Order: sequence, then C-alpha cells, then structure tokens
Amino acid sequence: MADATSVLHVSPVIPVVTIADPQHAVPVARALADGGVRIIELTLRTDSALESLKRIANEVPDILVGAGTILTPAQADAAVGVGAQFLVSPGVTPALLDHMLTLDVPVLPGVATVGEVMALLERGITAMKFFPAGPAGGPDYLAAIGAPIPQVQFCPTGGISLDSAPAYLKLPNVSCVGGSWLTPRAVVESNDWDQITRLAREAAGLSRD
Ligand code: 3PG
Repeated sequence: MADATSVLHVSPVIPVVTIADPQHAVPVARALADGGVRIIELTLRTDSALESLKRIANEVPDILVGAGTILTPAQADAAVGVGAQFLVSPGVTPALLDHMLTLDVPVLPGVATVGEVMALLERGITAMKFFPAGPAGGPDYLAAIGAPIPQVQFCPTGGISLDSAPAYLKLPNVSCVGGSWLTPRAVVESNDWDQITRLAREAAGLSRD
C-alpha cells in the first residue's frame, strides 16, 4: 500500500500541523474535523510530536492522521509505531524511500524537479508532495510538468494560503494542497479552537475543479 492517491482525495487542503504541547493535539484535531477537514499531516518537528500523533490516532478516530517531516527510516518506524496512517517526506533519498516502502502505510514523498518525479514513477509512485511549492515554481511549474507527465497527482505544499490555493486546485494534476495556515501557532497556543474550525471550514469549502 505504498501509493498515497487515496490520501490526496480526503480534503482539498491537508493541514500541516506543528504542535509543541501534546495537550493541544486532540482539541486541534477535533477542531479541524468539526470544520470538515478530516486529515492532518502532523510534523515531526517538536520533541513531543510522537506523543501528539499517538493521542490523535487513539482519540480522534474520524480523522486520518499522518506524520510529516519524515527525514530518516527511524522516524518513519517511530511514526507508524504510534499510529501514523500515512507518511510524508519533504524530499526523498533512495535509502529513505526503500525503507518507507517496506511499511504498511501510504507514502507521500516530496519532489521539486522533473528528474525526482521520474525517479518516483520508476518505483510505481504516482502521488507526490510538491515541495516547496511556491519557491520551486508554483502553479505554472506544475502545469508544465503535467504536459509530459500527466499521470502524477501532486499535493503542492510550501508558501500556499487560502488565497493562492485555488490557482493550484484548478490544475488537473493537483488533487489537494498542503499548508500550515489552518493552525497558526498563536491560535493553537491561545486554545482558540473555534478559530481553527473556522479556518478549516473555509479550506474544506475550496473547490477542486
Ligand atoms: C511543510 O512542511 O509542508 C511546510 O513547512 C508547510 O509550508 P507552509 O508553512 O508554507 O504552509
């Protein structure tokens, strides 16, 4: 179950969520789900990220929770060990990809060049994160890749906002976008779960043409 095509169809936006205090994990996940966003990419960027991931996996069953910022095989193992239902990496190396493909969860590897897209296609992967989407070329770049390689579906992430998302979502090779704008740090730390639900509702309402 390596390919993450199904993961790309859960929501028009995959929230990229960084949580410092595990006590915030479940309320953030519930707030997103209440707004209609039933997926989270929880980044492994804080010391307690695995604990937050575990709590969401155990306590919020109506949300699909994956681990982001996977840089090493050990991180992939640890994330799956606490309940990650998919894995996202910002880029790939052969060693990391080989290892992730041995695990029983969908894998969404990051790419930023045509050669990287082709290398993943050789491995049978057709769902990829395009990162960092804005600096790497934005919607024009993805549209250009779609001409020779229409069979790959992307989740562009990096520098995307509610305002810039539609330009990506209208592309035939974009199934969803990723972004951290649904869970701003200050909003999480002030426990403003209603605001997260509002941001999620706006994101869930984006159309995928
Ligand atoms: C990621 O890990 O995908 C990015 O850090 C998210 O980028 P953003 O903060 O620009 O949305």
